[in-house]
Amino acid sequence: MSLSLLSIANRKSLFQSFFSLAPTGGTACRPRIFPGHDEGRASPTRAPPGSIRAFSYRRIGGLRQGLPKGASSRYIEIRQGLNTINNFGGNMSSAQTPVRPDRIMQLAWGYAPPLILEAAIRHRVFDVLDNGAKTVEEVEDATGASARGLTALMNALVGLDLLIKDVQGRYALTPESAAFLVSTKPGFQGGMILHCSQHLIPKWLRLNEIVATGKPVEPVNQERLGGDFFSKFVADIFPRSYGSAQTLAGALDLNGDGRPISVLDLAAGSGVWGIALAQKSPFVRVTAVDWPEVIAVTRKTVAHFGLMKRFQFVPGDLLSADFGANHAVATLGHILHSEGEERSRPLLQRTFDALAPGGTVAVAEILVNDERTEPLAGLLFAVNMLVNTDHGDTYSYREISSWLREAGFVNSRTLDAPGPSPLILATKP
Ligand SMILES: C[S@@+](CC[C@H](N)C(=O)[O-])C[C@H]1O[C@@H](n2cnc3c(N)ncnc32)[C@H](O)[C@@H]1O
Repeated sequence: MSLSLLSIANRKSLFQSFFSLAPTGGTACRPRIFPGHDEGRASPTRAPPGSIRAFSYRRIGGLRQGLPKGASSRYIEIRQGLNTINNFGGNMSSAQTPVRPDRIMQLAWGYAPPLILEAAIRHRVFDVLDNGAKTVEEVEDATGASARGLTALMNALVGLDLLIKDVQGRYALTPESAAFLVSTKPGFQGGMILHCSQHLIPKWLRLNEIVATGKPVEPVNQERLGGDFFSKFVADIFPRSYGSAQTLAGALDLNGDGRPISVLDLAAGSGVWGIALAQKSPFVRVTAVDWPEVIAVTRKTVAHFGLMKRFQFVPGDLLSADFGANHAVATLGHILHSEGEERSRPLLQRTFDALAPGGTVAVAEILVNDERTEPLAGLLFAVNMLVNTDHGDTYSYREISSWLREAGFVNSRTLDAPGPSPLILATKP
C-alpha cells in the first residue's frame, strides 16, 4: 500500500477526541433527538433536541452513579475521573484508574488546529494538492512558502487527518479536505476558518474579562458594530447554510398553483436562504431584510446568482423594518442566538404577523438540550454569544418552540438538515 492509511481509521484527531466532532462536518454534534416528542410530522422519528433522557444506574469507580442512558464511554471516563478527585483523602477504591492530566494538556493546544488550517488555506496548500499528491518541495514551488514552514504545517495536517502522507513523503488530500478545504469547491468552508482566526479568536482572548463583567467588549448585536462585523463575513458562511437551505427548499411546496410565492428572508446576510428557495422554484419572490451595511452584501450575492429580479431588499432593524404582509414562508437563519430571548420573542411575533394563514416559518439555530449539557458545539457557541453579544445565547428546541407557540404558531417540528442542528418549522394557522 503506497499511502500510509493504516493508522487513520483507529486514530482520533484532536477534534474528535476532545470536541467530539465527526470528521465529516460535525453531525456527531447534533443534539440527541428521540421519538415521540415532535408536535408535527416533518421528522416523525425525531424528538426535540434536548429531550430529557432516562437515567440508569451503574457502578463507576466503586460508586453507584446515575448515568444518562446510552452515556458514552468518554462520559463514564470523565465521571470516573471526577470520582477519583472527589474521593482523594476519602474512601477511594483501589480499583480506580488514577486521573490523568493528558486531556487537559491536549485541550491547551485547542487553538492550534484553526490557525494551522488558516495558514494552510492562505498558502493554498489544499488547492495545490487538489490536482494530485506532492512532496514538500513541489508544494514549496507551487506556493512560494518555505520548506520548513510547509513541512511542519503539512505534518500537523496529517496528524489532524486532513492530509495523508505516503512512504515517498508525498502529501495528498483526504476526501474531507478535498470536499471542504479546496477554495474552488462549492463546499469550501475556508471562509468560516478565516472568520474564526481573524474576527473571533482576537475577541475570545478577552474572555477572562468578559466573564468577570458578563458584558461583551464589542457587542455585534448592535448595528453600530454589527453592520461592519457581519458585512465582512456573511458571504463566507454562505456554504455553511446552503445545504440546509436547499433541504428546506425541497421540503416546502414552492410550486403551488403557479402564482408567486412570497418568501421573507429575515437577517438575510448573504441571502443564502432566499437564494436556495428561489433556485428551487421560479415562482418564489424574496423580501430580504438586514441592516443597510449588510444588505449591500446581500445584493452582491443575489446578483452573483442572477436572481436580482426575484428579490426586493429592505434595509433596517429586525424590530422596526417593514416586513410586508401575506408571505408564504419566513426564514430566520442564525439570528435568534444573537438577538437573545428578549428580542427574539417580539421578532417571532412580527414574523407571525407578516405571514399569510397557512404560512411556514423556518428557524435555523445551533441547538442545545434543555439541561444545557450537550452538544458541545451548542455550548461553545453560547460562549461565543457571551463574547460577542449583549444578551445572546444558544437555545433548546423546547424553548424556541414555546416562543413560536406564544407568537401564535402551531405544529412546531424539526426538519433534519445538513447543518449543526435540525431546522425548526412551524405553521401559522
Ligand atoms: C449569523 S448572520 C446569518 C445570516 C444568514 N441568515 C445565514 O444564515 O447565513 C446574522 C445576520 O443577522 C443580521 N442582523 C443581526 N442583528 C440584526 C438586526 N437587529 N436587524 C437586522 N439584521 C440583523 C446580521 O447583519 C447578519 O446578516
